[in-house]
Amino acid sequence: MSSESTGGSGGGSGAGPSDSPMLLLGALDAEVEAFKEHIDGAKETGWREYRFLEGAIRGQAVIVSRCGVGKSLSAMLTQHLIDRYTPSAIIFTGVAGALNPELEIGDTVVARTCMQYDLDARALGFELGEVPYTSYRILEGDPDLVERALTCKPSAGSVHAGHVLTGDSFVVTSKDDSHRYLREDLGGDAVEMEGASVGLVATVNDIPFVVIRTISDKADTSASINFAKFVKKASRNAWEFVDHLLP
Ligand code: ADE
Repeated sequence: MSSESTGGSGGGSGAGPSDSPMLLLGALDAEVEAFKEHIDGAKETGWREYRFLEGAIRGQAVIVSRCGVGKSLSAMLTQHLIDRYTPSAIIFTGVAGALNPELEIGDTVVARTCMQYDLDARALGFELGEVPYTSYRILEGDPDLVERALTCKPSAGSVHAGHVLTGDSFVVTSKDDSHRYLREDLGGDAVEMEGASVGLVATVNDIPFVVIRTISDKADTSASINFAKFVKKASRNAWEFVDHLLP
């Protein structure tokens, strides 16, 4: 079992206030919407079809943006924002499908680790998720940010540490082999479509990151309906984590 419930107080030092902004990312506008009302001196700017909100929350410079769905766009936008703003840390929030049967809709998984589970060059002798000819496979969230996120007490749901699997599919099966494979063989607690690609870019750039995912569905045949219903609520939940993590 890779998931553990947590509670208590404390937390590490993490990224402190600095001139360089913290990057607050989500895949969809709806996932970062709730942050916007808390930003002082918000100024909108952009690149291509993306809009970025620059401002500060309690004196900490922040950039808020959606990065689009899937591994390619999320990686692309993360690198663009790193080049543009040199962020001190990246907080990625949004929703995920549960793989761990202990997780309920509304619970939150803080990724200690994440992996691109559909990056598969096993035919060439690489491990599943391994980026060929690199040392990257399991991406580790920044320990301070992870531990601090785990001390958050959101108004809804419980908080778990876990292993998040990222791939370019919206997973809608619960009882079949692919679901069993993600849970039992790969040890995934939750599945989503951007965390590890953002984590990979952050890692290559040596920028601390954390992926925080609220469970919107159980990656089963009701997943599409539950996802649509839950995504707005998740944004409020994400704000509570961001509020908790900002210095
Ligand atoms: N994000 C939220 N639910 C998901 C699911 N079931 N599969 C992939 N990504 C998701």
